[in-house]
Amino acid sequence: MTLRDPGVPGTMDAATYDAAVEVLRVTGGRRLAGEVCVAGAKNSVLKLMAATLLAPGTSTIRNVPDILDVEIMSELLRRLGCVVEHHRDVATVTIDVPHRPEHRADYDLVRRMRASICVMGPLVARVGAADVAVPGGDNIGSRGLDIHVAGLRRMGAEVTSEHGYLLASSAGRLRGAQTWLDFPSVGATETILMAAVLAEGESVIDNAAREPEIVDICQMLEAMGAHIEGIGTSTLRIEGVEALRPVEHATVPDRIVAGTWAVAAAMTHGDITIRGAQAGHLSMALEKLSTAGADVHESADGFRVIMDRRPAAVDIVTLPYPGFPTDLQPQFIALNSIAEGASLVTENLFEARFRFVQELARLGADVRTDGHHALVRGRSALSGAPVEATDIRAGAGLVLAGLVAEGQTTVYGVGHIDRGYADFVPDLQRLGADVQRLDISDA
Ligand code: EPU
Repeated sequence: MTLRDPGVPGTMDAATYDAAVEVLRVTGGRRLAGEVCVAGAKNSVLKLMAATLLAPGTSTIRNVPDILDVEIMSELLRRLGCVVEHHRDVATVTIDVPHRPEHRADYDLVRRMRASICVMGPLVARVGAADVAVPGGDNIGSRGLDIHVAGLRRMGAEVTSEHGYLLASSAGRLRGAQTWLDFPSVGATETILMAAVLAEGESVIDNAAREPEIVDICQMLEAMGAHIEGIGTSTLRIEGVEALRPVEHATVPDRIVAGTWAVAAAMTHGDITIRGAQAGHLSMALEKLSTAGADVHESADGFRVIMDRRPAAVDIVTLPYPGFPTDLQPQFIALNSIAEGASLVTENLFEARFRFVQELARLGADVRTDGHHALVRGRSALSGAPVEATDIRAGAGLVLAGLVAEGQTTVYGVGHIDRGYADFVPDLQRLGADVQRLDISDA
């Protein structure tokens, strides 16, 4: 995977805009069976990479997925003065952080990857300044930054907004503070946490997010010398330290990729063993698959999902962890679209995530949305058609639907899928799917 953007000389290869014209061509009707290995979580590794900014010297992150977002984060860190090396053969990134990093995250990278804003907390804590482009709206809703900003201000940072950038600064060390989050935001918890570890005195984050990716970054920060209590709970207590040290840390497995494979097994009458995954991080989703009729067997290094019938429809309500993850909502709508019966899906995190339903309807799915709710009436068959992925998870949901649709489904917007799923096509092929990546000129 290489970062591709001709607008930034020297950082990209020539195939840049190929992503825009590449498609996945899926011919439905194959049963998926076999084994698949899950790499580290996208939504953890990006933050772990940003957290290395907190200590000068060379940190090593292991179990790194080979996805586009890792390349974008590498490029961002390079522009901040770090030397970043991605050793794909061993799924490792090394980051050599200078004593005085730069502090600007440019719009050309932030617009490509919203998670770029996660450098704000470490930079303001470490160098007293962070100028970070505001991401703006994206395909899954407005996604504000107000909780991040309120938390940094409580610690004494000044935060203003100018010419499309958030400018955060602090004259001296940040001061530890108590913060109550309006909502257990993953990003805001991470921003405040990464600032608090180097602040003077104690910070408390109440109503903190509890996702496995938050636990992962807490554990890495502890290994760097941070003092954090309450890891995995909604109250994090942080005693700031003056300096942290570089670290070697392995990324937590990607529970959303693992969950996507589990749904693939359930939709295709399949039998997939998902290795390197932690079933405990997917309790709610696996429970739903059991309700849908799948057999789920947990093992020490993953789990196996077997399905021998048409799935039964399951109701879903997305909520912060340990609730049902919004990042598996499109995949479960795809499952419900071919299930026996009707289901109600409620999306509580991202208002625009139902946009993908219009694409699913092109395959013949019967889904009606009203605000936060979608009513899905299962059809006995879908029929292949061209569709457009509007975000990463929508892309995954559309590929899953294509696997069971009659005939050919052509999924556009492959670049979205590449942002979050490493080796998606080869893994699908190994499991028996008829899927190919084609240039549009061949499509
Ligand atoms: N929110 C605010 N103000 C804030 C922060 C959040 O209003 O200051 C709102 C958002 O608008 C949204 C809700 O709170 O409605 C949840 O946002 P959260 O901050 O929890 O999400 P995030 O950090 O922006 C991460 C993942 C998402 C995942 C969510 C929820 C990364 C890079 N992204 O986003 O992943 O859906 O947590 O679990 O970690 C994906 O992988 O496809 C993806 C979108």
